[in-house]
Amino acid sequence: MIRSVPVACGHYLPERVVENAEFAKTLDTSDEWITSRSGIKRRHFAAEGQKTSDLAIAAAKQALENAGLDGSDIGAIVLATATPDQTFPSTAVRVQEAIGMTGGFAFDVQAVCAGFVFALSQADAIIRSGQAERVMVIGAETFSRILDFTDRSTCVLFGDGAGALILEAKEGTGESTDRGILSTDLHSDGRYTDILYVDGGPSSTGTAGVVHMSGREVFRHAVVKLAETGQAALDRAGLDKSDVTWLVPHQANLRIMTQTATKLGIPLENVVVTVHDHGNTSAASIPLAMSVAAQEGRFKEGDLLLMEAIGGGLAWGAATLRW
Ligand code: UT7
Repeated sequence: MIRSVPVACGHYLPERVVENAEFAKTLDTSDEWITSRSGIKRRHFAAEGQKTSDLAIAAAKQALENAGLDGSDIGAIVLATATPDQTFPSTAVRVQEAIGMTGGFAFDVQAVCAGFVFALSQADAIIRSGQAERVMVIGAETFSRILDFTDRSTCVLFGDGAGALILEAKEGTGESTDRGILSTDLHSDGRYTDILYVDGGPSSTGTAGVVHMSGREVFRHAVVKLAETGQAALDRAGLDKSDVTWLVPHQANLRIMTQTATKLGIPLENVVVTVHDHGNTSAASIPLAMSVAAQEGRFKEGDLLLMEAIGGGLAWGAATLRW
């Protein structure tokens, strides 16, 4: 059977680093509160005029360079974002043009913080159905554009960034020892739209809006649903928790990551953590964490990665991938 096998990844973080202490200058908050409640120490914010596509293009170019490929070698781009440059066209076609990809197709996926897992699932389906041989999966966000900087309960949590992963079709045996994506598990439940949402949009207010979140509620759903979907992705691939080399979770909150890992029975030293340096970058957080860990040489061929994420919708899911 055809498998979607990882070739290389890349990432980009805007130059401006904002430490927790900066928020304490204008808000009733502290480095101590932000660090102890979320694990976040700093995040990157895009410069004025820097768009989500700019971040995505930089990540895509680094992934191509690491793979030794050109844009023309890519058959499709699936880009996950909740902060597109414009209502349309998709941010993906901006990347398509910038990397010199004149054929194939590119489109955006919108599943907020779970976007990368949803995009990965689409990319896997595209490859396995023979619609493209090589697919670039990107998560890219400029969440700083949709934050209310007077709301201490949300604005200290998010950051900007982009990560990209190139997948290519390779013949596998169908066994769980194959390299590539081995399973995906996706969910959403629209009954929870009011605990995490943006109060704007083209067909409602005609504005981009800002983030609203009932943090405690989302937290409660996150730990339960992430552990369930992580286990479901393992079951679908015929794998056990003891097979997991690395848990690469959505980087929203260190406490959510450690509680989920504990529920799944995965040792904390096997969890990739970047939330302290990046904050919550929504759809970009998993590919950013993956790319940083890959550049540090932490992943070896044959390692099993388990990814999981949850966000607005609620939408959540998990994927297993053998490096
Ligand atoms: O990526 C999408 C998914 N999102 C998530 O997974 C986020 C899930 N939620 C969380 O990560 C956590 O709920 C937060 C980090 C958002 C908050 O942590 P918490 O331990 O759940 O705190 P809380 O919301 O229960 O708030 C505790 C207190 C409140 O004060 P009272 O009501 O106890 O007097 C808040 O008003 O902390 C207060 N607070 C703050 N204090 C200082 C809220 N934000 C801040 C702040 N600085 N920035």
